[in-house]
Amino acid sequence: MNPHHIPSTLPEPSPEAQRQSARLKDLIREEIQRAGGRLRFDQFMAQALYRLGLGYYAQAGQIFGEGGDFITAPELSPLFGRCLARQARQVLEELGGGELVEFGAGSGVLAETLLRELEALDCLPRRYTIVDVSPTLVQRQQARLRQNLPHLFQRIQWRESCPRGFRGMVVGNEVLDALPVHKVRFRQDGRHEELFVADEAGRLVWTAGEPSSPRLKQALEQIYREHGEGMVDGYESEINLAAERWLGGLAEAMEQGVVILIDYGFPRHEFYHPERHQGTLMCHYQHHVHPDPLILPGLQDVTSHVDFTAIAESALACGLQVAGFTTQAYFLIACGIEQMLAELEPESMDFLRQAQAVKKLLMPHEMGELFKVIGLSKDFPEPLLGFSLLDQRARL
Ligand SMILES: C[S@@+](CC[C@H](N)C(=O)[O-])C[C@H]1O[C@@H](n2cnc3c(N)ncnc32)[C@H](O)[C@@H]1O
Repeated sequence: MNPHHIPSTLPEPSPEAQRQSARLKDLIREEIQRAGGRLRFDQFMAQALYRLGLGYYAQAGQIFGEGGDFITAPELSPLFGRCLARQARQVLEELGGGELVEFGAGSGVLAETLLRELEALDCLPRRYTIVDVSPTLVQRQQARLRQNLPHLFQRIQWRESCPRGFRGMVVGNEVLDALPVHKVRFRQDGRHEELFVADEAGRLVWTAGEPSSPRLKQALEQIYREHGEGMVDGYESEINLAAERWLGGLAEAMEQGVVILIDYGFPRHEFYHPERHQGTLMCHYQHHVHPDPLILPGLQDVTSHVDFTAIAESALACGLQVAGFTTQAYFLIACGIEQMLAELEPESMDFLRQAQAVKKLLMPHEMGELFKVIGLSKDFPEPLLGFSLLDQRARL
């Protein structure tokens, strides 16, 4: 093992990247010391992903696409965003106009595709607001949208939260999986634990302790009561309490409309399935996927799958309705992805490229089934277009 504790199966970071990661690790070690010897995992994850200038989403390196660490659906094909635009059109037409808000806009590609398609459909939102925690990505989004959509740039704004009194549609692709989670361990004697990050002579290591808050303890007990049967002693997983705070803020700001969230994950009974005893944490580094979030701080993405039942429960608790739940494949098909593909020039390079991408977006063993779409609504009539083919709310 080298001094950076990077397994030999992963590509070696450049000397510059190693220096940057070492700097972030030193800062994390200082935080650990300040916190009395350990950080909660959600605090560690927030540092590793969002620490200004050094966190994974807040540094200058390329994240998305072929030259980055992973590819997301809107990066893969504009047809993904065009489908979301069809869903947005339904919402905006029903409301007689309105706005769009995108959380976690990444490179800005989805904003660009959505606005282009809504312009083509003659259904532009009054305003398009982007909320993103990464100042580096906000700069990238601004540069891209200023250059590619100069005539619509005035309609786009960046804010720290959803505008108050908002009416329209909110969209977030792969945002829930990027929210910092608590790492937990279930015990058969009922003394469930939280896992923290400690510093052992310069190496970041796990350490277990009591749950750090009554809310986490309550969540652990509820999950164990409902799904603990079959779990081995020491079953590890994650709990995302940040999502409930995030949804609470959103619900408060929203007057009327729909929230569409797309991410990889499961209903709770599958999320806490006995076989998933090591949890769902996943790290992406230069198109390699591995399960160790404590190495390469700042250089790799760290994500957790989404417990969609928790999202539905949080939504109901803050006054939203659950308006639909389905797989990415069924959502995109309901929004017309197959017709969009069929309308492209057959045999053209673009058609071939898009056909490949659509396969990836829809096939069950690729993104079609693991990725789910949940629709939440406030004072909005059903059915929503994207859930009109298959609605699996009953599975939540
Ligand atoms: C995995 S990337 C997905 C980017 C983009 N939606 C896509 O599909 O390509 C996660 C994005 O969410 C942003 N993000 C993370 N937490 C956030 C939060 N609490 N509010 C808004 N954006 C957030 C990150 O900065 C990043 O832009």
